Amino acid sequence: MKICVIGLGYIGLPTASILAVRGYEVVGVDIDKKRLKEIKNLSFKTTEKDLLTLVSGAIKSGNLEVKDKPEEADVFIVCVPTPLKNKKCDLSYIKNAVESIKPLIKDKNLVIIESTVPPGTCEEIYKMINKDIYLAYCPERVLPGNILHELINNDRIIGGINKESAIKAKKIYESFVKGNIYLTDTKTAETVKLMENIYRDVNIALANEFAKIAEELNIDVWEAINLANKHPRVNILKPGPGVGGHCISIDPWFLVEKSKEAKLIKTAREINDEMPIYVANKIKKLAKKTVTIFGVTYKGNVDDTRESPAEKIIDELLKDNYDVRCYDRYARDFKYPLLNLEESVKDSELIVVLADHDEYKNFKEEDIKRIGKLMKRRVIYDTRNIINKDLWKNEDFKIYILGGKND
Ligand SMILES: NC(=O)c1ccc[n+]([C@@H]2O[C@H](COP(=O)([O-])OP(=O)(O)OC[C@H]3O[C@@H](n4cnc5c(N)ncnc54)[C@H](O)[C@@H]3O)[C@@H](O)[C@H]2O)c1
Repeated sequence: MKICVIGLGYIGLPTASILAVRGYEVVGVDIDKKRLKEIKNLSFKTTEKDLLTLVSGAIKSGNLEVKDKPEEADVFIVCVPTPLKNKKCDLSYIKNAVESIKPLIKDKNLVIIESTVPPGTCEEIYKMINKDIYLAYCPERVLPGNILHELINNDRIIGGINKESAIKAKKIYESFVKGNIYLTDTKTAETVKLMENIYRDVNIALANEFAKIAEELNIDVWEAINLANKHPRVNILKPGPGVGGHCISIDPWFLVEKSKEAKLIKTAREINDEMPIYVANKIKKLAKKTVTIFGVTYKGNVDDTRESPAEKIIDELLKDNYDVRCYDRYARDFKYPLLNLEESVKDSELIVVLADHDEYKNFKEEDIKRIGKLMKRRVIYDTRNIINKDLWKNEDFKIYILGGKND
């Protein structure tokens, strides 16, 4: 059976590779020539454990070919971006991808959409293709940083445009998924995917609101959340400098655009979107001119800077002519230049930890000594509560924590 995977990004590449390793004949398609070259040469940057080994195995097996144009196949899997545009889902990538495969689709082919979309999108795509096909929606719920493990072990939801479509799609996923596979209709599956991310976004908004309240009350929000979570039915997530990434920070809007009832969802999104401004205002109180950012990715130990709060915070600081230096060894690329550690802290008045990379948790005494010597003032603002406070204090650093207690 031949499978054509459209879009070889964070989701499409591991999916295409795993299907190839399981014995399917796979053509992976991407319009980005640079990406294709990097995949062929195995020179793409990734923080996903074992992805290089998987892709290399898939290519060597002869089952995975990567190309810039789709081909006729039995199954088409669409994994293209669905970014946010004016607080609505930009479906142009999906529409272009579907247009590109439409002439190649034959009756009884199976089309699977994996991209996150607003409810009802698959019904529109079905009409757009207008052939006697099977169509299913199989959303991804992997955790970036742990994609390969989760791709195999997570439970999956498959929504079919009809029952046969869901059953056909299940057969494909069964070849590599060890978790349970639950079947439903496309609109329910589309909504379920959004509900999962909204649940997390609303919970984080609550944690962020608690962090701001804690600063007003002068209590430590981290201690308070930890204690509240000792309740057997409470699980409050962590506050932070804002919610980023390609999923949680944008997907809630896909439901807001479809329903007037989505009030809590909208408010949570606004609370989380305001966090970078809140953090930038605090930074402005702590430093006058030169600021060092540790971590520009949207969360720890990943290379993804999409929708990163760091970008919004830096934009805000640049409006006031701050000299902002960024240090991040994990980031794949970023809007602003990335410096080495020494360059980033030299003559700086303040370090701001924005991503919870392991590197910053594990700084040793000698690293902090070296950093302290280069800085103009020894001040650190940790928005993730991850640094080893005793070590930084020993080097005379003044420490501020988001949602922390003032001295
Ligand atoms: N990254 C995640 O962790 C994650 C998790 C769950 C769901 N998703 C969803 O999966 C979808 C894909 O996300 P991603 O992170 O893999 O995106 P990505 O940007 O990493 O990759 C998408 C790829 O598609 C390519 N592309 C765009 N238009 C194309 C076309 N017409 N034909 C062929 N290739 C095309 C791009 O060049 C890019 O390489 C999105 O809808 C996203 O919301 C992502």
